[in-house]
Amino acid sequence: MQTVLITGATSGIGEALALLYARQDWNVIACGRNQQKLTALTQMDSKISPLSFDVTQQGEVAGAAQQLTRDIDLLILNAGDCEYIDNPLEFDSSLFERIIKVNLISIGYCLEYFLKRIKKGGRLVLMSSSATYLPLPRAGAYGASKCAINYLANTLRIELCKFDIGVSLICPGFVKTPLTDKNEFAMPLRVEPDHAARIIYFDLESGEDEIHFPQAFTSIMKFLSLLPVRVWRKIASLMNR
Ligand SMILES: NC(=O)c1ccc[n+]([C@@H]2O[C@H](COP(=O)([O-])OP(=O)(O)OC[C@H]3O[C@@H](n4cnc5c(N)ncnc54)[C@H](OP(=O)(O)O)[C@@H]3O)[C@@H](O)[C@H]2O)c1
Repeated sequence: MQTVLITGATSGIGEALALLYARQDWNVIACGRNQQKLTALTQMDSKISPLSFDVTQQGEVAGAAQQLTRDIDLLILNAGDCEYIDNPLEFDSSLFERIIKVNLISIGYCLEYFLKRIKKGGRLVLMSSSATYLPLPRAGAYGASKCAINYLANTLRIELCKFDIGVSLICPGFVKTPLTDKNEFAMPLRVEPDHAARIIYFDLESGEDEIHFPQAFTSIMKFLSLLPVRVWRKIASLMNR
């Protein structure tokens, strides 16, 4: 039986992935800080086992890796958060640090301790965002953290090839989760977490390098990103009034 470790499995996309992988007969190591949610997940499916740690605490990540009793086939680094910078003239460096730490630095910690536990022929999956296709108002901290993840994934894909480890990058549009429930703006074509999990699962099964959805949304973002930069700047400044 194959094993997947998923960070951020207590909510949203990660939770839907944990339940789907368990239904597909994988051993699932579900990670998060919320003990109650982890216990509830293990009660829903006996193939799910909990691993509780804070991804922003290097010592906790190291301790969690030591608790692994088996090597893994799939490592999905999905945990993350989003906060917006409302006023760039009052730049909130604490917010910036929080978001860079939870979305990006945590990936470094997880790579240090979990990457060597991926079996030959296995796969590393990094959770990014379609926000990386275009610069979006207020999303400076979030977008910067996710753009760095794109670079990291693209570099690791070249480097890990000789170790027979694949690398996939996930760039979702809007998915209905507690993270986006906080947004007060329109979220076109927002999909349910189960729908997102199914796309991710089947695309990973086919070994896709970059997974993006819903394609009606991400294709428009990709198209806009190909236009001269002044076109998007004009549209974005209208959005930012
Ligand atoms: N929802 C979207 O539209 C969307 C779009 C693009 C990309 N994404 C990305 O998808 C990922 C999952 O997002 P989501 O929408 O599913 O959000 P969510 O429902 O808020 O779930 C976030 C998960 O991350 C975990 N997490 C947060 N901080 C953590 C920490 N310090 N240590 C350990 N775990 C931590 C949370 O677990 P605990 O609270 O238990 O620790 C939770 O399981 C994120 O990386 C997000 O940026 C989401």
